[in-house]
Amino acid sequence: MKLWGGRFTKETNQLVHNFNASIGFDQKFYKQDIQGSIAHVTMLAAQNIIDNSEKETIIKGLQSILEDIDNGSLIIDGEHEDIHSFVEAHLIERIGDVGKKLHTGRSRNDQVALDMKLYTRDEVKEINALLKDLLKELYQIMKENTETFMPGFTHLQKAQPITLAHHMGAYFEMFKRDRSRMDDIFQRMNYCPLGSGALAGTTYPLDRNLTASLLEFAGPTLNSMDSVSDRDYLIEFLSACSTIMMHLSRFCEEICIWNTNEYQFVDIDDSYSTGSSIMPQKKNPDIAELIRGKTGRVYGALISILTTMKGLPLAYNKDMQEDKELTFDAIDTVKGCIVLFTGMLASMKFNNEIMESSAKNGFTNATDAADYLVNHGVPFRDAHGIVGRLVLFCIEKNISLDDMKLEEFKAISPVFEEDIYEAISMKNCVEKRNTIGAPGTIAMTQVLKECEAYLNE
Ligand code: ARG
Repeated sequence: MKLWGGRFTKETNQLVHNFNASIGFDQKFYKQDIQGSIAHVTMLAAQNIIDNSEKETIIKGLQSILEDIDNGSLIIDGEHEDIHSFVEAHLIERIGDVGKKLHTGRSRNDQVALDMKLYTRDEVKEINALLKDLLKELYQIMKENTETFMPGFTHLQKAQPITLAHHMGAYFEMFKRDRSRMDDIFQRMNYCPLGSGALAGTTYPLDRNLTASLLEFAGPTLNSMDSVSDRDYLIEFLSACSTIMMHLSRFCEEICIWNTNEYQFVDIDDSYSTGSSIMPQKKNPDIAELIRGKTGRVYGALISILTTMKGLPLAYNKDMQEDKELTFDAIDTVKGCIVLFTGMLASMKFNNEIMESSAKNGFTNATDAADYLVNHGVPFRDAHGIVGRLVLFCIEKNISLDDMKLEEFKAISPVFEEDIYEAISMKNCVEKRNTIGAPGTIAMTQVLKECEAYLNE
């Protein structure tokens, strides 16, 4: 059934129908479409625009359509232009002429604005929940590894020793911000466009507050033209999804590096790895690589909608139909990646000894040797130079600072005493770093408490 055949004298060209139709993808929100229609007729009856028995008949009809789609007995076919016409056509087929009253005081413009918002709103909540599962996993690893030493890097060069808890804690903060972005978006988007009509409201006495509250919105949107043409929330949402992917991608990049034969900091579980068709020895981190790779398509969705929206005059334009496919794809991608990543992380083995010995063999305690000198009255710039010479000495002898004899230390600076060994021991180097947010045990214990409280919120 067409919703707009009246003023036309010719059939639509089949290619035009196919090109114009959105039912192939907007069927994804059939539930939300029916939910919105039920709220709309409930309000129409409350306002005496239709009578109660008409309302009951329409709602029963809509519910039977919902059940039949759910149980597979009603298949959404390509004959209709979109999910809105599909539902309306089946309603009229099932309950007769009274079904024709459903669309009173409504346009597909406010209808689709509502459906997409309801759909996205649910996904915002779901992504938020999946991120929480990932944070719980991270918290677990943090709790168990406050004394698992590893090198911290800058420029991908060993810099200073840290702990695995501290490294995981960095990602904890990132994904926590991602959740708070989801919360913000939820708050800002949570206003109901239904009742805005095509663009200029309607002459029926619609109660927009009632439909907004029936659909659990904070209230109705306040400008009918903006309501039917606002896709800001999708842009914000895709931007936040892109940031989640960027975080996952960075983490995956680290895991790929840590998983190499050269590093061996981690072993990805067999159940999360794949092999090579030619090289029998290979165990590849495909999942980490794929998550890293899929980041590009989520960025693509963001750029696509930004570009689609940039030249659009008010109010609704058909271009906006393009908001759906890539958003749906981005949602599936982000959710899939978070779930896969969480599973990979939970089953991954960290090779604590290898990480610790890597931290020992890269002069990650050089800053601490300089700090030792500073604590004994040497100005920092001079201390920096002295430790530089120690490092050169060690590189020539292929040893670490901890392996130097006291006389060797003293030959470069007489300030060094026996207690230098303790000062530059891995444990001390980490333990002494207790500024807020640092890897030392006191600082880390405080952060872990906050993480726990956050997860219990
Ligand atoms: N399929 C359309 C979309 O997704 C629904 C709105 C159609 N409105 C219109 N005036 N043609 O945007």
